[in-house]
Amino acid sequence: VNDWIRRNHDHYEERYGGLDTEHLIAQAGDLANLDRLIAGHTSWFGLYREGLRDRLKGKTVIEIGFGDGLNALFMARLGANVWAIEISEKAAVHLSSFAERFGLRLEALAGDFRELALPRADFIVGKALLHHFTHDVEEQFLGRCAEVLTPSGEARFFEPAVNVAWLDRLRWMTPVPGRPSSLRKAAFAKWKESDPHPERDNSSAHYAASGGKYFDDICILPMGGLERFRRLIREPARAQAFGRRALHWETRLPIWVQSRMARSQTIILRGPRCPATRRAASG
Ligand SMILES: C[S@@+](CC[C@H](N)C(=O)[O-])C[C@H]1O[C@@H](n2cnc3c(N)ncnc32)[C@H](O)[C@@H]1O
Repeated sequence: VNDWIRRNHDHYEERYGGLDTEHLIAQAGDLANLDRLIAGHTSWFGLYREGLRDRLKGKTVIEIGFGDGLNALFMARLGANVWAIEISEKAAVHLSSFAERFGLRLEALAGDFRELALPRADFIVGKALLHHFTHDVEEQFLGRCAEVLTPSGEARFFEPAVNVAWLDRLRWMTPVPGRPSSLRKAAFAKWKESDPHPERDNSSAHYAASGGKYFDDICILPMGGLERFRRLIREPARAQAFGRRALHWETRLPIWVQSRMARSQTIILRGPRCPATRRAASG
């Protein structure tokens, strides 16, 4: 097993052991909560951009790296046939029990996507997933997505965007709860020891190139250029209101400005190339 997959497994097993299940159950019980999250939280806004919410009914969706399971539960509530996959066994046990409690039909599986049999799918989604993979694992993963998706299928991922080096350095200098500033060298190095993210390229150009190996149609939507400043506002309600407005204001900026300033991005891959077509294309 790739060391980073093991590291993710160990890190998230510990995290999901202490899940706030009551909060989750309260959230997952009502689709109005999904609408609220899409309106104001970057990762939800990003994953559901371009009307995904209304395209899921009756569709087979695979979610990889489902985490606390909230999104998988929402998708099942929206009428999708959901296969949810997590490297953490604890997360899969939690999600199965939540689905049973809500009477939702959903398959929660624990393991590495490379070892699991996957169904033919209309959508594959991942929220904050690809940047946990090393480049070689990402390549295997995208190849597998192209094999499993129907010809009109779509893969979409919400990921961080690093398109300008100094903005990224600034980001690491700003401390957030649980992670010290990179200026505090010793504390930062200690934090990094248990960080589950490999050093890798998270630029939009990289994701466009890696997606382009297996898909004909690549769409990258940058976001978070203005929203990133919400972290400077202390008071949670004001920070949230600012974030919500910023996500909409920033879409009025020229696309090249959005792309340079982006903190996050949605990567939408369509037109999966089947293995035979790929072989023909590569000569
Ligand atoms: C940043 S968390 C995001 C969780 C959730 N999608 C969310 O948005 O809250 C990344 C998730 O990917 C999972 N993960 C990492 N590597 C994985 C792999 N090889 N297969 C499946 N899941 C994986 C981790 O266990 C973790 O739950």
